[in-house]
Amino acid sequence: MATVEVLPFEDAHARDVARLATTVQWPSLTDPEVVARVCAAPGSVSYVARDEDAGLVGWAQALTDGVLQAHLSFLAVHPGHRRRGIGRLLTVATFQATGAKRVDLVTDGAADGFYGTFPHRRLAGYRLYPGDPEA
Ligand SMILES: CC(C)(COP(=O)(O)OP(=O)(O)OC[C@H]1O[C@@H](n2cnc3c(N)ncnc32)[C@H](O)[C@@H]1OP(=O)(O)O)[C@@H](O)C(=O)NCCC(=O)NCCS
Repeated sequence: MATVEVLPFEDAHARDVARLATTVQWPSLTDPEVVARVCAAPGSVSYVARDEDAGLVGWAQALTDGVLQAHLSFLAVHPGHRRRGIGRLLTVATFQATGAKRVDLVTDGAADGFYGTFPHRRLAGYRLYPGDPEA
């Protein structure tokens, strides 16, 4: 199978990340401009995975205080390239670049089999939408 490299996100990747978001059905990230803004935000750390044949096959983005705490906001691997170790590579590269000692995340449970492979503690999580009764 082709080689995969993990490298820091650049604006030139935004279109492919938006395409990946479309594939994994993340409607809030299907606009390349939104992807670029998310990745350029203060404290944002982001990496992509590139397959030498298939191009961009994975993306991760975290927010960090650079000292203690990071939050893994997004992690996706293209369905045709899962179970190749790409999710792990992206998670480790992104976490190391945050400079934080730990990373929190929320998940609907679909990725439990993946996150459970890392040293971890399970805590209850919430996603708040203050002021939005429709959420
Ligand atoms: C979760 C996700 C990022 C994992 O990416 P991946 O590249 O397939 O993961 P890896 O190949 O690095 O997996 C590492 C290990 O995690 C475990 N694992 C990964 N996916 C798993 C699954 N679906 N079920 C059970 N265990 C799983 C395995 O132990 C795996 O090692 P192995 O393949 O040698 O057995 C990917 O499935 C994905 O993009 N899912 C959709 C989006 C999503 O749910 N993102 C996370 C929430 S924000």
